[in-house]
Parts: sequence; structure tokens; C-alpha cells
Amino acid sequence: MIEVEGLSKRYEGLTAVRDLSFRVEAGDCFGFIGPNGAGKTTTIRILATLLEPTSGQVRVDGHDVLERPEEVRRVMGFMPDYYGVYPGVRVWEYLDFFAASFRVGRSRRRAVVDDVMALTDLAGLADRDVATLSKGMKQRLCLAKTLVNDPRVLILDEPAAGLDPRARIEIRTLIKELRAMGKTILISSHILTELSDICNRVGIIERGELRATGGVEEIRDRVRPRRTVVFRFVRGAPQAEALLRTHPQVDGVSSAGEECLRLTFDGAPEDLHRLIKVVVDAGLPLVGLEPEKYDLEDIFMDVTRGDLA
Ligand SMILES: Nc1ncnc2c1ncn2[C@@H]1O[C@H](COP(=O)(O)OP(=O)(O)OP(=O)(O)O)[C@@H](O)[C@H]1O
Ligand SMILES: [Mg+2]
Repeated sequence: MIEVEGLSKRYEGLTAVRDLSFRVEAGDCFGFIGPNGAGKTTTIRILATLLEPTSGQVRVDGHDVLERPEEVRRVMGFMPDYYGVYPGVRVWEYLDFFAASFRVGRSRRRAVVDDVMALTDLAGLADRDVATLSKGMKQRLCLAKTLVNDPRVLILDEPAAGLDPRARIEIRTLIKELRAMGKTILISSHILTELSDICNRVGIIERGELRATGGVEEIRDRVRPRRTVVFRFVRGAPQAEALLRTHPQVDGVSSAGEECLRLTFDGAPEDLHRLIKVVVDAGLPLVGLEPEKYDLEDIFMDVTRGDLA
């Protein structure tokens, strides 16, 4: 579990993070989303004990990052946004080195390295020089490295940056597997759609301040409580339009193409049910219903425009 309370970080002349508070519960996959320069890496480096906060408190699995950094590092796997690999080192040696740094004993290291290589699909590359790996392979190597201490908490700073579509999907699948293994995960990205199917909660940060936190649905309901749905008819759209226009729950009706109507209404599902009943009871042949797309990308645009004051 991660607890951040009133966290601020000032670099000389610049406040990169201002009074940030959020919690990531055990077993959560928390998406930390924000544009370039928002303060994601700054926050993450504080969580990873690599940077001291100016003020505020951060605890990882109950350990304060300033008072017990060693404990924090023991329970955490941290994947930085930039990292080095050393030429002349093989994949298994690289992982063995990090396992040794985490004091995994010589007798157990072989099994640990084999396990993380199997998980990250690196077994076939065990003897390759790390300097000859592609970006996607290096990214998997770095993720493998963050797993050698079997951490309960994973902090991943843009793990899919610079990867091709297939490699992105592979990293996503891997993160889902890690979550299924019970790990608590914080993952940063500015590619929002990437996080929507792996994260159960998100936090949106902009200019060092948290603009919104919660489940994607929850934030969506707060930012845009009204819903828009397109009703598709075989015929009779004009009659339906006249009927719905006077309905108290309907905010607006407009044509959305041939025999289609766009309806804006109070977001509750029961309201939608009532509207469907009105047209069906009137004998109008409603054959389709399409909710307007409103995903993480749209939420992000709304929230960072300041619509959630
Ligand atoms: N060492 C530093 N000294 C001074 N300013 C810094 C330092 N590191 C970061 N900053 C500034 O702090 C702000 C937040 O940067 P940060 O790297 O945390 O953003 P980010 O959300 O990770 O962005 P990106 O998506 O580009 O990775 C930026 O304005 C950046 O210029
Ligand atoms: Mg960053």
C-alpha cells in the first residue's frame, strides 16, 4: 500500500509537486497520469527513496520513505524511465547481479533469475549481451530486474514508452499478470488509453497538482454527469423526437443521421430505461442504442481543462 500526504517538492525556483495526497490500496493498479512536466517522475522518485520531499509524508507498505528507506527498497520494485545497461554483460548475469544486490543467496539466485526470465519472456535471450538487445527487450529486462526481490509494491515510470504496438500489449499483459499475482502497482503514463484496461484507479496530475483521483467510472460521473446516447430507429425518428423533447429527464434531442437521434439526459441508468420505455410504449421501432464514447482520454482532456474545479 502507498500513502502520500501533503507531498510537495521544490527544485530551485520551481515547485514541481504541490500538496499531493493519494492512496494506493493493496492489490490496486493505480494509473498516474499527466502531461510532460506534470511531476510524475518527481513523485515517483520520492516514492522510490531517490529524492527527498520538501514537505509531506510518504509511506510504502507502512514504512516512511525518509525514516525507513531500506525497508521501502526491500518491499519495492522500481522501474525508472531511463536506465543503463552495461556492455559485455549477459542477460542472466545482469539479473543475477541485481538479485545478489538484494542479497538473494547464491543457492536461490539461479531459480529466481530463471523465474523472472520466464515471466518476462526472456529465457530465450539468457546468454545475449544486454547491449545488443532491442528497446522492447531492454524494457522487459528492466522489468525483470525490478522483480528479482519479489516486491509487494511495483512502481513503474512509463514502462511502455518507446515500444511498438505489439510490445506495448505484451507489457500490458505482463502488468496484468503481476497484478493477478497480488502485487500493488503504480504505473505512470501520458498515454491514457493504455492504462484504462489495466488500472482500477487513476490519479490525474497537472502542473504538480492532483486534479482528480478515483475509479475511471467515478471520475467520469463527476466530470460529466450527463450522458449522451444515440437512439437508432427503423422508422419514426421524427415522432420519437417530438415525444422525447417534452420528457422531463431529457436535456436535448437532435438528429444524428437518418432515423437516428442524439439524446442528452441525466446520467442514471433508470432514466435511460424510462426513455427507452417511452418510445417502445409508443410503438416506435427502436433497434439500436449507442452510448457516446467517453473514455480515459476524454476524462483527461476535461479534467486538465479545469472542468473539475
Ligand atoms: N532535477 C531537477 N531540477 C530542477 N527542475 C526539475 C528537476 N527535475 C524535474 N524538474 C522539473 O520539475 C517538473 C516536473 O518534472 P517531472 O520529470 O517530474 O515531470 P513528468 O510528469 O515526469 O514529465 P514527463 O512526462 O515528461 O516524464 C518539470 O517542470 C521539470 O522541468
Ligand atoms: Mg517523467
